[in-house]
Amino acid sequence: MCGIVGYLGDRQAYDILIKGLKRLEYRGYDSAGVAMIDEGDFRLFKCKGKVSDLEDSIGSNIKTGNVGIGHTRWATHGPPNDVNAHPHLSNDGSLVLIHNGIIENYASLKAELINRGHTFKSDTDTEVLVHFIEDIRDKTGANLFDSVRIALSEVIGAYAIVILDKSNPNQMIAARKSSPLVIGVGKDNEFFIASDATPIIEYTRNVVYLEDEEIARLDRTDGLKIVTISNQHKDPYVQELEMKLEAIEKGGYDSFMLKEIHEQPRSINDSIRGRMSLATGAVRMSGVDEHEDRWNKATRILIVACGTSWHAGLVAEYLFEEFARIPVEVEYASEFRYRNPVIYPTDVVIAISQSGETADTLAAIEMAKDKGAFIFGVCNVVGSSIARATHSGAYTHAGPEIGVASTKAFTAQVSVLYLLALSVAMHRGVMKQDRLNRLMAELNSVPEKIAEVLKTNEDVKKIAAIYKDSTNALYLGRGYSFPVALEGALKLKEISYIHAEGYPAAEMKHGPIALIDENMPVFVIATQGASYEKVVSNIQEVKARKGNIIAIVTEGDKVVKDLADHVIEIPKSDDSLVPLISVIPLQLLSYHVAVMRGCNVDQPRNLAKSVTVE
Ligand code: AGP
Ligand code: GLU
Repeated sequence: MCGIVGYLGDRQAYDILIKGLKRLEYRGYDSAGVAMIDEGDFRLFKCKGKVSDLEDSIGSNIKTGNVGIGHTRWATHGPPNDVNAHPHLSNDGSLVLIHNGIIENYASLKAELINRGHTFKSDTDTEVLVHFIEDIRDKTGANLFDSVRIALSEVIGAYAIVILDKSNPNQMIAARKSSPLVIGVGKDNEFFIASDATPIIEYTRNVVYLEDEEIARLDRTDGLKIVTISNQHKDPYVQELEMKLEAIEKGGYDSFMLKEIHEQPRSINDSIRGRMSLATGAVRMSGVDEHEDRWNKATRILIVACGTSWHAGLVAEYLFEEFARIPVEVEYASEFRYRNPVIYPTDVVIAISQSGETADTLAAIEMAKDKGAFIFGVCNVVGSSIARATHSGAYTHAGPEIGVASTKAFTAQVSVLYLLALSVAMHRGVMKQDRLNRLMAELNSVPEKIAEVLKTNEDVKKIAAIYKDSTNALYLGRGYSFPVALEGALKLKEISYIHAEGYPAAEMKHGPIALIDENMPVFVIATQGASYEKVVSNIQEVKARKGNIIAIVTEGDKVVKDLADHVIEIPKSDDSLVPLISVIPLQLLSYHVAVMRGCNVDQPRNLAKSVTVE
């Protein structure tokens, strides 16, 4: 997820583009670039780094032109560097394109284009797309608008694109699928375009939100025309923006954390997309396929991580042991590195980190590497130190996470680790095909189920209002729900500053039960599954001591409903997938409690998004 800006009109495009890119800086990115058309040619500048680095690198070069596009990249295909930065040129240099998203079938398109004589400069899927559009234009003789439409009908993946033809400075073509694009409509066919309205709002409040699979032609003389990929004409719906700038940056949400919580149906989709196929019944993780030997010979998996990522690691322990039948140890990176641990060359070490910069995790990796273990990284930030230090890995594709409290990064990590465990089980031949098919289908339905759970937001808010003044809270779960109890407690304490502990539900009677009285809220994940009856007994134990039970239950549950003070229902799913769904109401609850207590949810006191000190 990153930023797109475009301008077509009478003003100098460059200043508008740079200002717009800066407005989109909150989305997080690793490189930036702009292209304007002037005197029949492109003025193209791009580089790794921030928008200010781009400005420095352009310096006093000529940057005139009344039409232009700008991009901030969050790398998915190829490391962040000057060459991979957008915009990208077509083979003959006549077209230039910016793109957010992923073209999943880029490899086969690229192979075909190479056969047809194309040469590529970058590692990106984006460059393949602009070459492909050019190829269609040249093959069919179609105009650019039609060529884009024909090309996109053959593309699999997600995109927001804007494309320019240097021979026509009066036109800009844009299209979207799964990535946002807003068109700003000025006077006399002046147009702005961007990933969100922040770069546009100071010029015009009239906007058109492009819908999925729509292609727009913005033209200085003909105005705005929209067609669908299947070539149906659409009347542009121009609406007036009423939002404040700050609200728009957060996509209309009050905070990045709330926005990121709500993004989870999409971010999980992004994490699993292209990695499993229900049609072929296979999971494809390149880090397993390419290192099959290391995974097949592994006698043990060691997981190293910190904080929320460590909780994702705990879920992975259950997954790997159940699906792939490999023993797993989950370690706090900080303890592991100073313990002189026993590490064998046959070990596989999985390092999990959202930022990819956590100092302890990085040090644990270096130590395990020295001992000959195979290191696999699960990171969100592309090109981060951990991503570079590992032998192989899988990016989580959650998009930039700005809120310090991790939400969508956690569910993306668990989704990727889920596929990883399935893939390893498949390679080791320990999972029956029908079971694999069933689990993949269930994983595929998780985003939809999360969208359902997000609808409980108002109910969760009411529960938050009741317990917002608590000084302590207990979170309980068993099996797959134990790590969720830990994560729920961490979320509450880090943003609301209420003391909270997570425990395996059965451990409660070995100590924490002494804390329970009528002032203690106890959050229990009590979904129907392997340990349901046992958890029900634990709930009885809390009620017998006048504790307040807030239970997360499976839709339609009656037993816990009768016992608990409050219930939040979630859709039924396989036990192994419950963590992805049950964590959502706990994230929402922490959020509401923190807001009601007047805390800064995005930047809680004393915490940093990436902990680069040990
Ligand atoms: C999560 O809400 C916390 N902010 C924190 O525990 C975090 O998960 C931890 O610092 C690890 O960070 P990483 O995933 O970037 O390595
Ligand atoms: N997949 C493209 C790339 O890696 C675009 C990434 C983005 O959304 O910025 O360059």
